[in-house]
Amino acid sequence: MNSNSTPAALSGRKDLEDIYKGISEDLDRVEESLQVFSSSSNLLVSEISTYLFQKDGKRIRPALLLLCARLLGYQGRDHILTAALVEFIHTASLIHDDIIDNADVRRGRDSVHARWGPNISVLLGDYLYIKTLGLSLESEHPQVIRILTDISAQMIEGELTEYAMSGNLELGEQEYFEIISKKTASLFSASCQIGGILGRATPDEEGSLVAYGRNLGMTFQIIDDLLDFSGNERDLGKPILSDLSEGRITLPLIYTLNQDGHRNRQRLIGLLSDKKSAAEGKEEILKIVKSNGALEYTFKKAEEFSVKSKETLSQFPASAHREALALLSEYVLSREK
Ligand code: FPP
Ligand code: MG
Repeated sequence: MNSNSTPAALSGRKDLEDIYKGISEDLDRVEESLQVFSSSSNLLVSEISTYLFQKDGKRIRPALLLLCARLLGYQGRDHILTAALVEFIHTASLIHDDIIDNADVRRGRDSVHARWGPNISVLLGDYLYIKTLGLSLESEHPQVIRILTDISAQMIEGELTEYAMSGNLELGEQEYFEIISKKTASLFSASCQIGGILGRATPDEEGSLVAYGRNLGMTFQIIDDLLDFSGNERDLGKPILSDLSEGRITLPLIYTLNQDGHRNRQRLIGLLSDKKSAAEGKEEILKIVKSNGALEYTFKKAEEFSVKSKETLSQFPASAHREALALLSEYVLSREK
């Protein structure tokens, strides 16, 4: 649905490469670091790490850190280490998330949980996470450790609240925004903040980078939740309508449920009231959600966050890196995968 409102040219992998062209050498070094940091004499760790760190991820969080550091003229060496660390945390969180969400497919392949089972997945997620904290002690910037531990706690809180609210049809838009701000946007903003700290940002500049990252992360998660309704499984590399199967109440549903008096509201409540009927009635739910403009509304909200993220960049002088960050805001909004 969003291909009408945003440039289709920004939706694919190649376009991300284009946006990343000013940091492509840095990103190559981050890839090398991911390999080195995850290598282990333990066969399972090394086997799963090789599986995980193939070059098929979008690498948005490391790219954000690198772009923000370079935006402020950073010329040191800490950017590669810290960029690898935010990707490590992201990867650890997805391994755990796929267990919680019962998700068998990620990036078009078996999830770690589907291939190795939940026990090994929990341990592997823990391993990557603790490895991240250990490696962060090697950073020349001690604030990095505090930021990474703080946002990890926020991510866990967000994920916990989301889980606790599963199936709760009273979930409001504001509560939904708080959940996704913690579970997703916090790592985006932390990546930008660390880039800013490396580049010796002034407090104002750091505040703007944090705001840019948070708004971008909000856009990212709202589009993720939209694509669960409107996306295409092949492009996404994961099944659609999976939030419904897990009883996850996201913005398209919240909007539909808030349409007091709408004739479909009661039917929707009936279908969603227990997880089993929600899973069985997925196609009907999709039809109801589509028919009342919820997907357009959800896209509009994502667009508002994307616009806000771009606005916060105006305090930085024009440069190729600022342009790349602005393009990333558009990419995240228009992405179909
Ligand atoms: C994906 O959401 C999940 C997250 C963005 C955060 C997950 C966080 C945790 C599991 C807490 C643990 C954190 C650490 C640091 C180990 P989603 O399910 O909506 O996205 P998806 O469709 O890609 O699965
Ligand atoms: Mg998930």
